[in-house]
Amino acid sequence: MPLFKKEQEAAAALNPMPRHIAMVMDGNGRWATSRGLPRTAGHKEGAETFRRIATHCSHIGLEYLTVYAFSTENWTRSEAEVNAIMELLRVYLLESCEKMVKENIGLRIMGDESRLSEGLRALIRETDELSKQTTGLQVNVCLNYGARMEITRAARLLAEDVKAGRIAVSDITEEMVSERLYSGGIPDPELIIRPGAEKRMSNFLLWQSAYSELYFTDTLWPDFTEAELDGAITWYRSRKRRFGGVK
Ligand code: IPE
Ligand code: IPE
Ligand code: MG
Repeated sequence: MPLFKKEQEAAAALNPMPRHIAMVMDGNGRWATSRGLPRTAGHKEGAETFRRIATHCSHIGLEYLTVYAFSTENWTRSEAEVNAIMELLRVYLLESCEKMVKENIGLRIMGDESRLSEGLRALIRETDELSKQTTGLQVNVCLNYGARMEITRAARLLAEDVKAGRIAVSDITEEMVSERLYSGGIPDPELIIRPGAEKRMSNFLLWQSAYSELYFTDTLWPDFTEAELDGAITWYRSRKRRFGGVK
């Protein structure tokens, strides 16, 4: 008699499918430069890859996809490059407003919105509203995001709660910090993928990645495919996750 799927997984000692995958969308500039194109052409192509990968994640039944789109450090780039990235994000948010309910995909922006244009902030409010109706994949776009800024912000929120007498310093727990991050309420990513050949976190999800499996690949983000994502998931499922214990 064939074993049930769960029993098969246990027999092969595979991890279950991840619920949450995070990705650093890196390598757009090098992709363009190697073709003699301006860096902005790489960002345009990278935005297409993002659409493809998000659709694939929705099809495979993933619950959360978090992507690093623009860091708190990326403002140091030329004004023209920053503007081009912001325009691509604006177009994506606009398009999402039309499609997300139909495709049952929710959208959350993670990061400091205060430095974004009023147009972008209005679109973020709209996608937040529409996301209340969706139950499928939730895409989190990290925009003007930095993990140190996120953790500092959580510390400030906790300090305010202490100052107002809502909590005592001695009662502060790890869960209370987690809840005050932009990712509050979302499970930590089991798998973090970084295309673009660099092996570093670049200020991405430093708190949430405590026990994430890290998958680095030389593929530049615009060349990243659905098949490589499937391969990364297969790799993840075969990892021995010990969480500090013995297995
Ligand atoms: C990632 O690609 C996109 C952003 C950081 C906004 P890069 O622009 O960093 O591309 P490379 O790393 O220079 O190739
Ligand atoms: C990380 O890539 C940020 C995003 C992909 C948005 P960077 O290109 O900014 O990272 P570094 O500079 O190589 O560390
Ligand atoms: Mg880069």
